[in-house]
Amino acid sequence: MWPGVLHFLCFAAGTCSGLTVMVPSHTIHGIRGQALYLPVNYGFHTPASDIQIIWLFERPHTMPKYLLGSVNQSVVPDLEYQHKFTMMPPNASLLINPLQLTDEGSYIVKVNIQGNGTLSASQKIHVTVDDPVTKPVVQTQPSSGAVEYVGNLTLTCLVAGGTRLVYQWLKNGRPVHTSSTYFFTPHNDTLHITPVTKGDIGNYSCLVKNPVSEMESDIIMPTIYYGPYGLRVNSDKGLKVGEVFTVDLGEAILFDCSADSYPPNTYSWIQRADNTTYVIKHGPRLEVASEKVAQKPTDYVCCAYNNVTGRQDETHFTVIITSVGLEKLAQKGKSLSPLASITGISLFLIISMCLLFLWKKYQPYKVIKQKLEGRPETEYRKAQTFSGHEDALDDFGIYEFVAFPDSSGVPRMPSSSVLATDGVSGQDLHSTIYEVIQHIPAQQQDHPE
Ligand SMILES: *[C@@H]1O[C@H](CO)[C@@H](O)[C@H](O)[C@H]1NC(C)=O
Ligand SMILES: *[C@@H]1O[C@H](CO)[C@@H](O)[C@H](O)[C@H]1NC(C)=O
Ligand SMILES: *[C@@H]1O[C@H](CO)[C@@H](O)[C@H](O)[C@H]1NC(C)=O
Ligand SMILES: *[C@@H]1O[C@H](CO)[C@@H](O)[C@H](O)[C@H]1NC(C)=O
Ligand SMILES: *[C@@H]1O[C@H](CO)[C@@H](O)[C@H](O)[C@H]1NC(C)=O
Ligand SMILES: *[C@@H]1O[C@H](CO)[C@@H](O)[C@H](O)[C@H]1NC(C)=O
Ligand SMILES: *[C@@H]1O[C@H](CO)[C@@H](O)[C@H](O)[C@H]1NC(C)=O
Ligand SMILES: *[C@@H]1O[C@H](CO)[C@@H](O)[C@H](O)[C@H]1NC(C)=O
Repeated sequence: MWPGVLHFLCFAAGTCSGLTVMVPSHTIHGIRGQALYLPVNYGFHTPASDIQIIWLFERPHTMPKYLLGSVNQSVVPDLEYQHKFTMMPPNASLLINPLQLTDEGSYIVKVNIQGNGTLSASQKIHVTVDDPVTKPVVQTQPSSGAVEYVGNLTLTCLVAGGTRLVYQWLKNGRPVHTSSTYFFTPHNDTLHITPVTKGDIGNYSCLVKNPVSEMESDIIMPTIYYGPYGLRVNSDKGLKVGEVFTVDLGEAILFDCSADSYPPNTYSWIQRADNTTYVIKHGPRLEVASEKVAQKPTDYVCCAYNNVTGRQDETHFTVIITSVGLEKLAQKGKSLSPLASITGISLFLIISMCLLFLWKKYQPYKVIKQKLEGRPETEYRKAQTFSGHEDALDDFGIYEFVAFPDSSGVPRMPSSSVLATDGVSGQDLHSTIYEVIQHIPAQQQDHPE
């Protein structure tokens, strides 16, 4: 039938019988109730008058059974099995329909060629018959979950249908192997986790296979109670160094306590003053208004409690309130580069000296104001047009100062450029200068040099 293949086989084998029978697979897995096809190919290169094909069935410890045979095109079945086995000679392949569990065993095909003498060859195919696996279901014991280091978990894989089942457990998609805490029953259909730990949290599934199918259960996530772990306190503001939070006076600071745990922890906050401690709040957050806190450092404790594992953890921290002003300035100076702080201090000194100079120059401003108060109201109205404001009645005195002849003699102070940063320009600049003059004495009184 396949002269090319046959010639190749003949040369490769060194000796050539002239007849070759081949089967693609020596083992075939069949599904109960379905048809099974056993493919066979044969070839020869001698003239042939008769082609005989015989199928036999053999099971361990039993006599081989004749199933059917053919010479040329005519088939002679065993009448007992005539409806079950089909062959279409010269095609030697066998069809078994329907397949039963009792059909499992070895099938032998023998081909005889009658020509110039008789040539014979045979092959054997092993057939298994199975029911497909149905979808497994995993049961967890106890279903409520287990406490870490105390409880055990048992996962059982239940399968309704299927033969020759092989069980495998998967955790997060990877096979689970026996370990110090994982134990299997002999068939691997049950997994014991003794004891459970936080590391056992994951997606478990049961994979069941047999020669004809495989099915995986839905993923289950067993409940494992653990914690608290990794307790820590954070704040939205303030500087944290170790367990000490430094907060500016007047700032409200929010502390957040967190720890990993299942079920979530309950949190309580404890304040320690002198030798007494008292619970000030329950819940994961605590707000401290720093103006309420005494200037001396205050110790706090955040306590996390897991009411199922019955375990708790606590962390201590101290809050130091720093007053604004010099301390704040010093702290900023520290955080800035030395050059920047030197520049800042120099600038501060220059501006202070300029302001002092201005103040000294316009110290008799009250006299000027008295002079201005003697002016007629028409001039006030005229002055009003200098400003861009529509409704600036309160500013009368200020604009009038601009019109005062002596103002032309005012040198352009460095301070005016500083003040210009407020966005004043043109005529408004003069009014701003006046305001500075008005305010400097008050400032100087607050901070005597
Ligand atoms: C088979 O076929 C060959 C040739 O076609 C013929 O010579 C032979 O007699 C046949 N055998 C039988 C048993 O019919
Ligand atoms: C035998 O018959 C089957 C269909 O019944 C076919 O698929 C197969 O190719 C045939 N084999 C040969 C060698 O012709
Ligand atoms: C038949 O076989 C014999 C010996 O095996 C051989 O001498 C003879 O040539 C063969 N005849 C044919 C037609 O192949
Ligand atoms: C967990 O298993 C261990 C060993 O099998 C046993 O000693 C222990 O009592 C079990 N714990 C629970 C809560 O059942
Ligand atoms: C477990 O499965 C859930 C969804 O079913 C997924 O969000 C989660 O990432 C999985 N966990 C792991 C560790 O694979
Ligand atoms: C059970 O599983 C283990 C590891 O997963 C494997 O080595 C063993 O062969 C399995 N036993 C059976 C009966 O399937
Ligand atoms: C705190 O208690 C210690 C001893 O327990 C005592 O020596 C100390 O005086 C107490 N301090 C205050 C402020 O009560
Ligand atoms: C644990 O605390 C939560 C609320 O924080 C509550 O709902 C739950 O019932 C408590 N469980 C136990 C076992 O006390």
